[in-house]
Amino acid sequence: MASAPNHLNPYLHGIYAPTRDEATARDLPVIGEIPKDLCGAYFRNGPNPAVPPKGLHHWFDGDGMIHGVWFENGRARYANRYVRTLDFVEERAGATPMPGIFERAELRDGRKTVYKDTANTDLVFHDGRLLALWYVSGQPVSVDAATLETIGYETFGGKLPGNVSAHSKVDPVTGEFVFFDYSLYEPKMAFGTVSRDRRLTHFQEIDLPGPRLPHDMGMTENYVILHDLPVVFTESAIRERMWRIHVADQPTRFGVVPRPHNGKGAGAPRWFEFPTCYIYHVINAWEEGDEVVMAACKMVPNGFAPDPALGPYAAMTTVLALRAKPFIWRMNMKTGEGREVQLDDRLSEFPVVDFRRQGRKSLFSYHVVMDDHVEQRYSGLLKYVLSTGDAIAHEFPKGVFGSEPAFAPREGAAAEDDGYVVTFVTDAQNGASEALVIDARNFSGPPLARVQLPRRVPAGFHGCWAPGSEIKPL
Ligand SMILES: [Fe+2]
Repeated sequence: MASAPNHLNPYLHGIYAPTRDEATARDLPVIGEIPKDLCGAYFRNGPNPAVPPKGLHHWFDGDGMIHGVWFENGRARYANRYVRTLDFVEERAGATPMPGIFERAELRDGRKTVYKDTANTDLVFHDGRLLALWYVSGQPVSVDAATLETIGYETFGGKLPGNVSAHSKVDPVTGEFVFFDYSLYEPKMAFGTVSRDRRLTHFQEIDLPGPRLPHDMGMTENYVILHDLPVVFTESAIRERMWRIHVADQPTRFGVVPRPHNGKGAGAPRWFEFPTCYIYHVINAWEEGDEVVMAACKMVPNGFAPDPALGPYAAMTTVLALRAKPFIWRMNMKTGEGREVQLDDRLSEFPVVDFRRQGRKSLFSYHVVMDDHVEQRYSGLLKYVLSTGDAIAHEFPKGVFGSEPAFAPREGAAAEDDGYVVTFVTDAQNGASEALVIDARNFSGPPLARVQLPRRVPAGFHGCWAPGSEIKPL
């Protein structure tokens, strides 16, 4: 195979270039002061090819690497570790890698996915440990939240029937893990629940009109909201098992399915139709009277034309230039009516809420601001008031780009924004990375602490917060 022109791939260079070594550092230098009532850890997952790719490389193909900063008593420590998936271990040992998503999908013995499953996309903190999850629904990898060492594939006692998609969620009240799965080439999706102590308690398949490519789901106290979005695989993609997607002429549908409670089954989904749109990320979902409400970032056209100078990477780069605005969808379970309301006109993505409000009505959300650039990079943060669509900005210095943030409650505080917003930033010029600690109630002010990291943290995907008292060293 001729080598691909990877010097043209923007997602292998600059702020995206992989960091290949693994490090641990204690007592990190700090500009400012780490609050003593900040106790826990911020983690962020992302793609980080361990072996320089020879073929065409999509940003989503890089091996998962988690960067973590632990805060305790005004001090911070750092570590970064690869997620040791089977594909990572075998490729580093010299085996032929599973295909990336630019290549033909392959059924291989011992694999539950048809592409390289990197677990590089999302992180969920459940039962004291991290689960690293993959974009195209893969095998969840359990990771020690105290050290970032890979524990192994999580099968929930051998009962997990298929895969688990990124953006599966933890219910902060019941401690349940609520997950979804979908099939790239078959007309179905699934959702399941796992108890606080990692036992599979429910699994249900849902028929769809065709294979779909969802990215997230909603979860409320009593329902899950499954996404049937009109980004679908082409017929030739299904036949030839190639990654070719198109926007179909069909509405967006949300399937509201009752969560099983007290041993009762879940029931069939109730579908609500809305004007065609695509959604990567849900902000939060909750119930209000008869309505199931979901807030999410709805994609809008980005206006970037493919740049021929990027060769085979022109289309990927244009598609990755995410542009989205926050919307709220209301679905009345009594009348079957649906309403869609735009929350704000500003562009933002990678939304998060206080994890204690997941599935419950939340007052605030925190988003990244997309830089006005064809490469996906985040030039600041927005703190939204979800009832009004008002937002306060926290801008990073020019040329400094961030990561999906996480909200960290102040020790002992209950109010929703009584705490800190933590994120990684990297200076594109010199590669210096920091963990910022921002006062959630003085959001536009300078960070309380800029924790100096011992290495560049490449741009990546999703993060999470783990309270110190709940991390279970293994
Ligand atoms: Fe995502």
